[in-house]
Amino acid sequence: MRSGEEIQGDLRSFVARWQDYSGTERSEAQTFLNELIQCYGPDRKAVGARFEDAHTASGIMDLHWPAVCIIEMKAPRHADKLAEHRKQALDYWHSSDDAALNRAAPPYVVLCAFQRFEVWEPGRFPSAPRADFTLDKLPENYEKLLFLTGTEQEPLFGDSFKELTAEAAKVVAGLYQTLLQRKAAAPETLRSFLLQIVWCLFAEDLGMLEGHPIQRIVEDLIRHPERSSYGELGTLFDVLNDPTDYGRHGVLRGTRYVNGSLFAQAAKVHLDASDLAMLVEAAQFDWRKVDPTIFGALMEGCLGHDRRWELGAHYTHEVDIMKIVRPTILEPWRQRIDGANTLADVRRALDELCAFRVLDPSCGCGNFLYVAYRELRCLEHELKERLVRVAQQTGMQAPDPHGLPYYPLANLRGIDIEPTAVLIARVTLWMGQRQMMDRFGPAEPALPLVDLSGIQAGDALERPWPTADCIIGNPPFLGASHVRAARGAAYIERLKATFNVGVKDYCVYWFRKAHDHLGAGRRAGLVGTNSISQNLGRSASLDYIVSKGGVITDAISTQKWPGEAKVHVSLVNWIKEPPTQPTAYILDGQPVTGITAELRTPERSVGTARPLRANLGKAFEGPSPKADGFVITKDEADRLLNLPGPYADVVRPYLGSADVARDVHQRPSRWAIDFGVMPLEAAMRYPEALTIVRERVKPVREANNRAAYRRNWWQFAEPRRGLRQALHGLERYIVMGRHGKRLLFAWADIRTLASDATKVFAFDDDYSMGVLSSRTHEAWGTRGSSSIKADPRYTTTTSFDTFPWPFPVTDQQRERIADASRAITSRRQASCVANNFGLTALYNAVDEGAYTDLKAVHNELDDAVVAVYGWPKAVAHEPDEVVRRLLALNLDIVAGARNYDPFDTPTELTLIAE
Ligand SMILES: C[S@@+](CC[C@H](N)C(=O)[O-])C[C@H]1O[C@@H](n2cnc3c(N)ncnc32)[C@H](O)[C@@H]1O
Repeated sequence: MRSGEEIQGDLRSFVARWQDYSGTERSEAQTFLNELIQCYGPDRKAVGARFEDAHTASGIMDLHWPAVCIIEMKAPRHADKLAEHRKQALDYWHSSDDAALNRAAPPYVVLCAFQRFEVWEPGRFPSAPRADFTLDKLPENYEKLLFLTGTEQEPLFGDSFKELTAEAAKVVAGLYQTLLQRKAAAPETLRSFLLQIVWCLFAEDLGMLEGHPIQRIVEDLIRHPERSSYGELGTLFDVLNDPTDYGRHGVLRGTRYVNGSLFAQAAKVHLDASDLAMLVEAAQFDWRKVDPTIFGALMEGCLGHDRRWELGAHYTHEVDIMKIVRPTILEPWRQRIDGANTLADVRRALDELCAFRVLDPSCGCGNFLYVAYRELRCLEHELKERLVRVAQQTGMQAPDPHGLPYYPLANLRGIDIEPTAVLIARVTLWMGQRQMMDRFGPAEPALPLVDLSGIQAGDALERPWPTADCIIGNPPFLGASHVRAARGAAYIERLKATFNVGVKDYCVYWFRKAHDHLGAGRRAGLVGTNSISQNLGRSASLDYIVSKGGVITDAISTQKWPGEAKVHVSLVNWIKEPPTQPTAYILDGQPVTGITAELRTPERSVGTARPLRANLGKAFEGPSPKADGFVITKDEADRLLNLPGPYADVVRPYLGSADVARDVHQRPSRWAIDFGVMPLEAAMRYPEALTIVRERVKPVREANNRAAYRRNWWQFAEPRRGLRQALHGLERYIVMGRHGKRLLFAWADIRTLASDATKVFAFDDDYSMGVLSSRTHEAWGTRGSSSIKADPRYTTTTSFDTFPWPFPVTDQQRERIADASRAITSRRQASCVANNFGLTALYNAVDEGAYTDLKAVHNELDDAVVAVYGWPKAVAHEPDEVVRRLLALNLDIVAGARNYDPFDTPTELTLIAE
């Protein structure tokens, strides 16, 4: 699924392509719509959106996407007179339902003249468009067409003032940078100063500080350079912290007690003339329209770090925040409200809503909390309207609106390790609270500021969390290997002791702690790197949640995360120990039958597959050196190999993943010294090689945390004894490159040592090579694997050990697969040699349509493999179906319902494997 940032990025290119279009071609309208829909993710045809759909009584719709939208296109010259075409578009909508087919009219109608859009939601708002914007403003209004994602995402029609917000943030950030560079005050003072100023500017525009004191003081200071902002603005801030009313005269007459800890310490800074000019510029923005979701994040990007701030710093798009807030807060509450039909029910729901506490345990600038607050206030508003309606329907007296509770801001709780982030979160929430009063009616008084001490600075993994009824947020993304560097060894030891799961991606611990902290029946929604649904990360997070009574109800399996190009995230919403099983599950925007800890549907999940005894001892990770010093140059290898003695035993060609992918012959490009599992006295028989290892490896190992690595310094850290035993007696074996878009299998000579970036399969026959290279094995192998970025990563325990090989196999079937496998090896070798390239380049060319002969042999192999399983040919090309069938086989074998001995394993080896 696409992130908000990705959609916006593509829309910018879309706008650039179409902004000068002024023609009338009808076919161009179709190209325009195809491209527009593609920006949101789907392929128009594939999702069933039809051009020129004629089945309405009133004419031909330009585009009809059943259950989603109707789009009516007009030529660009109609851009200024769209209103004239509304009737036609809405007539289409009126006649687009079909009771006989049980087909409802789609909820949205778009009227578009290339350069201008009107978006209608006629079922709910029949009298006016919900949005109206020009093509150039499409990227910032992209949320208004979110239904084009073809998922359950609702468009967001709220006024968005993103441009203004970014501009305002830019000016504030510029002032901060100037003051910081000039060392106008300590950085903490400057940060407080900027936040105090920002709140005042906002308060002035919303009438909380009457008479525009900031603007007047600044103008005064410009006129009288002999005075200093240190005293004048400082006094204003002091007065804002004074609960008494004395001294509010002159420019301070319209001020009130603000408190809320914001002005507990007035930040006093001397501004020079150019700073004051920037402040004048800042004061000119209409601060009422600043969007708190973005403003806080931009401020955090600038004030939260002492490094230079770049404008355009990334913020989490509201559409992505809503992927958590909607399923975890909004929808459960909507259901609760829909089920409240008596006055007493509705009133109870309102009381419960107003007591509902939300926690974000890594809240940063408070953007998730703000969106949650806005939605909760909206729910409160809906409940109050419902109270009136139900009272009217039942002939009862509606309660006095003044006596009803409101959703309190202080119910928002947060933790963040950065004190500045906490300050920013509070300020943005105060701003948001005041803005929501204009939208949803009065809440607690805006002044004095609500006590937000529930948003605290601290380490969320080391302190208790405040009580909450639901938990949301996006905990920090930090790969396991970086956590130690960022937080230090002592911290890691504490983490290990507290969570007892070893060192994992940092965000994993939040999932665990959130689940433990939740009460039964409560919900959480968190964003995590997609390691949470994969192997080791999963076992410590989502597996833990599911095994402890958590039910995942709504998730996005993977999506790119804004700003961090390499990070792919998963978004997971779950409920702990639900009183009854949920009836609806949404995965990647589509209704499904359930969601597993791998973030797949139960049918597509290999998570329930178990290792098959017969498979054990056949596939391995390559030996892992954990020290670069074992790798030597070609010259060094030649020198050692020319020495008297059997140096060839320990000086070995060393094959890496890149060699498999890029070398013409998939041969090793490096050399390594490998003493295997020899004791030191045996290694001493190769003194020159041992000297190199003693000099280059021993010092590195001595610093290693693990005693075994320090002790056996002459051996690879993980020499893989089992692998060496399994290869014994073979002349060649199969090796697979670990990363990359596809799984690449190649033959390796037995003298070759495979690196830890490869997987090793202890087979020397063409039949086994054929099965491993088939789409059937690839479908299983990549489903059960973890991924780096979005590429599949093969893991022997979940990809190979669980894979049900075809069994039984006749000699004829075996030979057919072996033939195809030999044909693939020889054809691809010939092509690689002819072009002097490797397998990646070759298969990229195959994907583009070249080497149809090679593709044909692959198809023959795939057909031959599925034939042994007894499946129809087409199954080979449907990975989901392959996985479903293999999973059923795996479970049958484990349950003993099916014979399985694909390698004719002697009994004594079965015992060893056990
Ligand atoms: C991915 S950001 C999310 C913030 C915000 N929701 C957003 O979208 O910008 C993660 C936040 O976790 C905070 N953080 C990192 N380590 C933390 C810890 N140990 N305890 C609490 N917060 C932490 C960071 O300061 C950062 O604000």
